[in-house]
Amino acid sequence: MPDSQSAASVPGPRRAVVTGAAGFIGSHLVHALLQAGATVIGVDRRSATTDPAAAVHLAALHSHPRYLNVTADLLDCAIDPLFVDADTIFHLAGIPGVRPSWGEQFSEYVSSNILATQRVMEAATRMRVPRLVVASSSSVYGPTAGGPSVESDHPRPSSPYAVTKLAEEQLCLAHAARPDCSTSVVALRYFTVYGPGQRSDMFIHRALHSALTGQPLCLYGDGHQRRDFTYIDDVVTATIAAASAPADTGVVNVGGGANASLIDVINIANSLVGREIQVQPDVACNGDVLTTRADRRRAQAALGWQPTVDLPNGMRAQMQALTQPTYRAT
Ligand code: NAD
Ligand code: UGA
Repeated sequence: MPDSQSAASVPGPRRAVVTGAAGFIGSHLVHALLQAGATVIGVDRRSATTDPAAAVHLAALHSHPRYLNVTADLLDCAIDPLFVDADTIFHLAGIPGVRPSWGEQFSEYVSSNILATQRVMEAATRMRVPRLVVASSSSVYGPTAGGPSVESDHPRPSSPYAVTKLAEEQLCLAHAARPDCSTSVVALRYFTVYGPGQRSDMFIHRALHSALTGQPLCLYGDGHQRRDFTYIDDVVTATIAAASAPADTGVVNVGGGANASLIDVINIANSLVGREIQVQPDVACNGDVLTTRADRRRAQAALGWQPTVDLPNGMRAQMQALTQPTYRAT
């Protein structure tokens, strides 16, 4: 099992706000910040009483003496009071997922990823919060020739989701560049994050679910798509490190630990359960890039960060969590 304490050893903020706290990455981040001794306000529009996945993610947090959970929509709630005395805002709230961003749901992506972010940045500026760390995405790079993407590469987002994530990070950086804004911004381009509690629309979750249940796995395309799969504890460690990175850091890739194809993922899932997943082929999805791969030099220089968890170990940890009653609900 990967070392789940690794995030706790990183020096971090004392008083933090985490948006998207009921989500996959946000809830892990809250846990790690609390373990590191911080006081945390978590904000999310999903509530543990009405949303089963949120209930699982927030289960151990509600009773923590240094945690305050706020159920609110960042599109219309009063944000300033949440930011009083905060030294760091981790802005992870948003609508993720590449495939559903085509069509009618696009307005939700625009609302949560762009309009809500504008409100968050305006409030951070008013409340003079020193640092905001925003969750961006590897998808902003779009199609690549297969080599590592460098932060200075020209972004060519190929899905509506990716367009909103590029807008989100650039919006935050534009605010931070204003002379009257004392909030510095670090935008983290996360690469396909996995581990216990991963969203149920994502491939590794679905492969492990199929492996455990015998239900067929829908494979979009030929399975040769490659991702820099990045384990959740590594992502949390990088995210906390971003709170104290130099003010001019800008955008940083947070990716790596395992560059693998979907076929590799299926093979690992098969070996974990000792039988073959039944694969149901389907057409490739619009906006789905063939390869993501992170250049990690800036993450190393600015965050002192390197991934530590490889894919077989990370998938084993995710599978073990899936067999626990807590994670069965998600
Ligand atoms: P998630 O869906 O599990 O968590 C996002 C949370 O944000 C949800 O709980 C949702 O309710 C909340 N939210 C959305 N709109 C909101 C609003 N208007 N007000 C309040 N709360 C709102 O997703 P995740 O996988 O944990 O992703 C977290 C962030 O990281 C997202 O911004 C996503 O785009 C980004 N990201 C994720 C990945 C990944 O592989 N999971 C990779 C790159 C970037
Ligand atoms: C993931 C997250 O879902 C995005 O929110 C995030 O922004 C992005 O990573 C990122 O790195 O920035 P993605 O890489 O598409 O997006 O990850 P998955 O949703 O796990 O899909 C990975 C691959 O598996 C894709 O090629 C997809 O088409 C395929 N897939 C997914 C299937 O073949 N079947 C499925 O049931 C699900």
